[in-house]
Amino acid sequence: LGAGPLAGRHVLVTSGPTHEPIDPVRYIANRSSGAQGTAIAAALRDLGARVSFVTGPAAVPPPAGVTVVRVETAREMADAVAAALPAEAAVFAAAVADWRVANAAGQKMKKDGTGRLPALEFAENPDILATVARMGEGRPRLVVGFAAETESVEAHATAKRARKGCDWIVANDVSPGTGIMGGAENAVTLITADGAEVWPRMGKDAVARRLAARIAEALS
Ligand code: C5P
Repeated sequence: LGAGPLAGRHVLVTSGPTHEPIDPVRYIANRSSGAQGTAIAAALRDLGARVSFVTGPAAVPPPAGVTVVRVETAREMADAVAAALPAEAAVFAAAVADWRVANAAGQKMKKDGTGRLPALEFAENPDILATVARMGEGRPRLVVGFAAETESVEAHATAKRARKGCDWIVANDVSPGTGIMGGAENAVTLITADGAEVWPRMGKDAVARRLAARIAEALS
């Protein structure tokens, strides 16, 4: 058995973007690199946890020493999360697409020569964080969500914590000019039942280590 404050504990981390198909060769995506979620999984592993890492198509490779489950769509991520539970803590760092294409084509869409344009229809994806946070039996003891905000970070993240039913929200200020989206640093406010903690701007690895230490403390 491993050592460390999280030895013997199973924790789940979601990370990366999702890809939502339009047809077999096209998809809708977002700019999430997966860097923060990957760093969190590595930091939890370093504290001795057994980590299930459910990741969309990320720009950075998954950490060594964790159980990696690769998915593409939000619905696949929801299924993989359900299959990976139970866990004592779950951290939802993935940038899950809010909508999928409801009328995705089974074959590559073609220009038909008339100039007529395709019309995409959308359907709402399952909210994985809210679903897990509101589970009765089998709910992880600690459910952590993320919030990317560009203004009123604390107020918006506090409202999100209540709306999602999770224990903590890690709020990022992703305003243009911060360089945080896709960058190496993060500026985080941690929202808990006790209020808001503004953390100094630091590297994503340092954010991950600090969050992992807090998770270990909460589970101890
Ligand atoms: O309000 P918003 O959806 O942006 O909240 C983001 C948080 O919710 C993140 O923790 C993200 O991983 C999670 N989420 C999710 N499933 C979704 C949408 C968001 O788990 N479909």
